[in-house]
Amino acid sequence: MIVITAVLFDLNVVLATWTVVLVVPLLVGFSIWFHRASEAGYLLSRDRIANVLADLSESLYGIRVVTANNRQRRNITNHRHVVGAYRDANFFTGRVNAVYGPATIMIGILGQALLLGIGGDMYLRHQLTLGVLVAFFLYLNRFFQPIQLLVQQYNSLQQGRSSVIRLRELLETPPSVDERADATQLPTIEGRITFEHVSFGYDPTRPVLEDVNLEIAPGESVAFVGPTGAGKSTLAKLANRFYDPTQGRVLVDGVDVRTVTLRSLRSQLGVVPQEPFLFAGSIRTNLRFGRTGITDADIDEAVDVVGLGDLIERLPLGLDTVVHERGQTLSSGERQLLALARAFLARPRVLILDEATSSLDLRSETIIERALDRLLEGRSAILIAHRLTTAQRADRIVVIDEGGVLEVGTPSELIAKAGAYAAMYEAWLASGGRDATRGANP
Ligand SMILES: Nc1ncnc2c1ncn2[C@@H]1O[C@H](COP(=O)(O)OP(=O)(O)OP(=O)(O)O)[C@@H](O)[C@H]1O
Ligand SMILES: [Mg+2]
Repeated sequence: MIVITAVLFDLNVVLATWTVVLVVPLLVGFSIWFHRASEAGYLLSRDRIANVLADLSESLYGIRVVTANNRQRRNITNHRHVVGAYRDANFFTGRVNAVYGPATIMIGILGQALLLGIGGDMYLRHQLTLGVLVAFFLYLNRFFQPIQLLVQQYNSLQQGRSSVIRLRELLETPPSVDERADATQLPTIEGRITFEHVSFGYDPTRPVLEDVNLEIAPGESVAFVGPTGAGKSTLAKLANRFYDPTQGRVLVDGVDVRTVTLRSLRSQLGVVPQEPFLFAGSIRTNLRFGRTGITDADIDEAVDVVGLGDLIERLPLGLDTVVHERGQTLSSGERQLLALARAFLARPRVLILDEATSSLDLRSETIIERALDRLLEGRSAILIAHRLTTAQRADRIVVIDEGGVLEVGTPSELIAKAGAYAAMYEAWLASGGRDATRGANP
């Protein structure tokens, strides 16, 4: 374009000036409009395709719930709306493109017509020879070709830009916990966990925990009990720094967890979450997840300890059986056993078991109780439990309710105290949970 503009000026300055004056402002004006309209349009269609995919994946993930509640029709209608909104956004960008592309061509053609008028007039007045006029027009054609090409590229550029804008927004989202630049390596810990005046709320205006003080000694197992939604899982999540407290400190072996690298912290704290997550792949790879350098012998031992042997024998390919994504092809209890085996293999210094045995039948639970003894040997542990069988085995019980620690003590102390735990225990005994006294201190 630059070379041809120079040639045009060389052929005839007046005509070339007209070309620039007539065509360039219009093209620039149109391009600015296109830039704005297409950016808005492409961003909108990005958002709406995201809605389409989210809706689709949610419907597929919750397909059983949808079917059980006869919600198929409503989900289909909803999906139609979401898809329709996406189509509308695409119509909009399509229309913007349909205006911009042809409009630039039209500007070119109208410009050439006008220039032909001006050039023709100049020829009649003998200000210009016919040869120069023809040459000028041949070059003028060449001048518009790259503009058309640029218009096409500009469209692709805009499309890509909107994707980059959305990606950048995602990548720039700050993590809820940030590792300090001067974070140090947490040395091998003994396992003392201290909550010091800890307050926390997912929404700062609605605190979940307020001024919690608690110390877990090395090797001690502590059970968190309390009503649903009291903040048991939340307190456990603060220990391995899924979140930072809004006030107060969480210390591991006397070191503030905010000052150490997340890697060194989490490699020493093993978590079996409330909803164990398995990845698509074989059981073996799922078990190996927690640590590198796990041998087959280790895996066999873990399978034995948590009582997974029966399941593995039943499966066609044993340990190499593939579980589907999120472990869908296993029962919840089986998933919990696998998660426990995974924690056993990771050999962390501190174990956090969030309702790790809630989906197990009594027989598996007995196996698990024995497994827990092995698992907890010499380790500090936080056991979150609704089943008091598990809680009764702990060295100490912490009752969490009303945003804080309500009671702390050994199981027998708390029962003797006749407080909140004693009431829970009574109710639990009355409901037929008598076997809890087996092996525990009633
Ligand atoms: N990611 C989250 N965002 C916002 N609020 C949350 C989040 N997770 C939990 N909460 C809220 O925090 C409170 C405490 O939740 P938490 O999961 O700690 O309860 P819990 O004691 O473990 O209960 P459960 O016995 O049912 O597992 C609840 O009121 C819950 O609604
Ligand atoms: Mg919980």
